Amino acid sequence: MAGDKKFIIGNWKMNLNIHEASLYLHKLSGLVKNRRDVEVILAPTTLALQTLSLQVNPRQFKLAVQNFYWRDQGPYTGEVSATQLRGVVQYALVGHSERRHIFHETDKDVRNKVAAAIRNGIRPILCIGETAWEHSSGETQDVLYDQLNGGLANITSDELDQVIIAYEPVWAISAGQGSEPVDVSPSEVAEAVKAIRRQISHLFGKSAADSIKVLYGGSVTPSSVAEYLNIDGINGLLVGAASLNAITFNEIIKKAHDKNR
Ligand code: 13P
Repeated sequence: MAGDKKFIIGNWKMNLNIHEASLYLHKLSGLVKNRRDVEVILAPTTLALQTLSLQVNPRQFKLAVQNFYWRDQGPYTGEVSATQLRGVVQYALVGHSERRHIFHETDKDVRNKVAAAIRNGIRPILCIGETAWEHSSGETQDVLYDQLNGGLANITSDELDQVIIAYEPVWAISAGQGSEPVDVSPSEVAEAVKAIRRQISHLFGKSAADSIKVLYGGSVTPSSVAEYLNIDGINGLLVGAASLNAITFNEIIKKAHDKNR
């Protein structure tokens, strides 16, 4: 809907070191106009978060962590908790398909992380989506229902206000910069978004389903921004490869702004 705030998230995945991330932020800051109708969120490597949090203009960009451990503190060598990320990030990706499929994160891990983020004042962006096989077997809706049930099991309807859902079909996520984008038809995304809101309504009621923010992610480029943001019920985009270039990412942000006019 025109006029609604849009969320544009750049997930840099395991790219850019601290120095490169800082240079990127400097460049993007010079390009992006401060616009209240588009919330721009950057998700760099965890290593760069502190540096960027000191450098960033918090009115221009927000920061997100790509992953964290759900316990608040203790003997968990190598992990970073949401408690430690308080004040550094405002958002956290949770259950990204690369976490689920490469690092075998379960629904239990995902729901513990959603709850941990909320408990620490960080908004979780719960990522859900079906694999190519599930898609071709017609299981998309069942997968989305299961991942929503699994990911949201530990939270109350009041807490749901803090949650953002990102629909990312696993088969549409690009292999990285320079790879061919996989186009998912807007009608397929629209179907998935309807299914997501239906299940949220079933779990938390109709007004929660109407107000929850749902984003789309998977091979988004400047040329596909308008068609995805035009889909009824889509509140923003989660961008991987195309967010790694500040000029391209700024194009995406500009198109999101134009859509809102
Ligand atoms: P791509 O935009 O590279 O397909 O990545 C999508 C994604 O996984 C963002 O989290």
